[in-house]
Amino acid sequence: MAVEDDVRSHLFGLRLQHCVEVPGDARIAESEIGRVQQKQSTRFQTAREIADDGLEALEVDVGIRAPGTRGRQVTEAEYGQAENGNGHSLLLPSPEENSTEIRTSSVGFSRNNPFPARLLTNRKLNGEGSGKETRHFEISLEGSGLNYDAGDALGIYPGNCPALVDDILNALGCDGEEAVPAPAGGEISLRMALTTNFDITKPAAELLHRLTKDNAPLRELLAPDRKDDLREWLWGREVIDLLVETKGASFSPVEFVGLLKPLAPRLYSISSSPKAHTGQVHLTVSIVRHESHGRARKGVCSTFLADRAGEITPVPVFFQPSHGFRLPANGDTPVIMVGPGTGIAPFRAFLHERRATGAKGRNWLFFGEQRAATDFYYREEFELMLADCHLTKLATAFSRDQAEKIYVQHRMIEHAAELWAWLQDGAHLYVCGDVSRMAKDVDAALHTVMETAGGLDREGAAEAVKQLKSAKRYQRDVY
Ligand SMILES: Cc1cc2nc3c(=O)[nH]c(=O)nc-3n(C[C@H](O)[C@H](O)[C@H](O)COP(=O)(O)OP(=O)(O)OC[C@H]3O[C@@H](n4cnc5c(N)ncnc54)[C@H](O)[C@@H]3O)c2cc1C
Ligand SMILES: NC(=O)c1ccc[n+]([C@@H]2O[C@H](COP(=O)([O-])OP(=O)(O)OC[C@H]3O[C@@H](n4cnc5c(N)ncnc54)[C@H](OP(=O)(O)O)[C@@H]3O)[C@@H](O)[C@H]2O)c1
Repeated sequence: MAVEDDVRSHLFGLRLQHCVEVPGDARIAESEIGRVQQKQSTRFQTAREIADDGLEALEVDVGIRAPGTRGRQVTEAEYGQAENGNGHSLLLPSPEENSTEIRTSSVGFSRNNPFPARLLTNRKLNGEGSGKETRHFEISLEGSGLNYDAGDALGIYPGNCPALVDDILNALGCDGEEAVPAPAGGEISLRMALTTNFDITKPAAELLHRLTKDNAPLRELLAPDRKDDLREWLWGREVIDLLVETKGASFSPVEFVGLLKPLAPRLYSISSSPKAHTGQVHLTVSIVRHESHGRARKGVCSTFLADRAGEITPVPVFFQPSHGFRLPANGDTPVIMVGPGTGIAPFRAFLHERRATGAKGRNWLFFGEQRAATDFYYREEFELMLADCHLTKLATAFSRDQAEKIYVQHRMIEHAAELWAWLQDGAHLYVCGDVSRMAKDVDAALHTVMETAGGLDREGAAEAVKQLKSAKRYQRDVY
């Protein structure tokens, strides 16, 4: 491709205003990519090739790139779409309009055609000195035609971290401009594919097997009787580690992407009610950052939201309706909500929903986190609700404010008699958050409440819990 063409395509990208960095957007137009890219791929390579310092500075000057965000430019799909004027779901602003709005057609948005939503708010919920990073996000649904109900989840297609993409390209000895097959047909640059299409953190089985040729320890671990050892070895190891550790392994770009899994969307329990926050969806997200094998690691989607989405990078979203995690139809029914950590999300939504609908039923919230001083999410909101009696009871369990651990289930047992009485009054019980330990322990605590306050024996308690479940009065949203 001639440099002028490349520069022209890049400058075209400069007109795309908010649609410039859209890591998930290759998917927005996936159905279009094949058609469009057949035509475009011969003349378009990623604009990164020409994202030299001069152009990057220009982007910053014209306000379409935040300083220091040297990520990818307009996607090939966007470029193709806009150039072809095909009118499919994402209509990019024309230069004449000089609009900063993301405009959309009336084509329905869905999991296969996510809406490129604007991130309005990204706020850390933890105070100074907390050991956690949990963030509150507000996302605009304006122009999407989408709606949801309290209790639903939001799906997000993240983009991978550009620095990790660079590391992988270096390990492969590639510059990123190499053409590889796009999942929907046609071709895409290797950099684009690694940024938007493939899981470049968790190694797929195909990659592990391919590496055994040059990695003797891994070859041994892949023996059928070494599954536990393999799991242990893989803990904290990502694709980049395998590439760096496996000296001598070399791949063509096409072979390499063929050894990766598609990048999966992540789901988040929604923490807003559409009746209270019209045109918005809120999330409460624990940001995954840790270190392993000498490298700082980032959860793909939580850090996409925390670090990379924003003014110029929309968030590709879809709704995942809940099957059953719903408030009772009768607003007079009492509800008990157990939501430690990010498990608070749907209960903030429920409380806002019940206020907006004027539901008169009693509301009891159990919340837990590490420390009251730094990790009491939405404290002001809940205290106001408590003050005006919208929230009937708030039981908190701050696990690290004293020598021994105190968790939400300990509070349930402390309040067993009252909890039992609420259940006798027909309360619905909801649990949200960690599936691996909390959900089991809370379930055990519920059995204990049935036994101690309800006077049931072990079997009777088990039967009572079973009945609660079948009456849809005990619902869980655990992950
Ligand atoms: C229905 C549903 C609702 C959900 N709701 C919420 C919600 O409201 N809020 C929320 O925050 N999350 C929620 N989640 C979880 C969310 O979908 C993501 O799984 C989460 O944000 C992590 O995604 P990620 O892409 O950031 O991390 P990934 O890139 O997927 O990385 C996470 C992985 O990193 C590894 N890892 C994490 N910590 C370490 C460590 N210390 N050492 C080694 N390896 C580690 C683990 O293998 C872990 O699975 C929900 C999940 C589901 C299914
Ligand atoms: N799959 C993923 O990729 C992914 C990503 C993010 C989060 N998660 C999971 O989602 C869960 C939610 O994370 P989060 O950051 O919101 O908070 P969290 O880790 O669940 O912690 C919230 C509170 O619950 C406490 N807790 C720990 N064990 C408990 C138990 N057995 N019963 C009741 N409470 C318990 C914690 O105390 P202590 O910390 O003091 O023990 C803390 O006070 C986590 O378990 C995490 O593993 C998964």
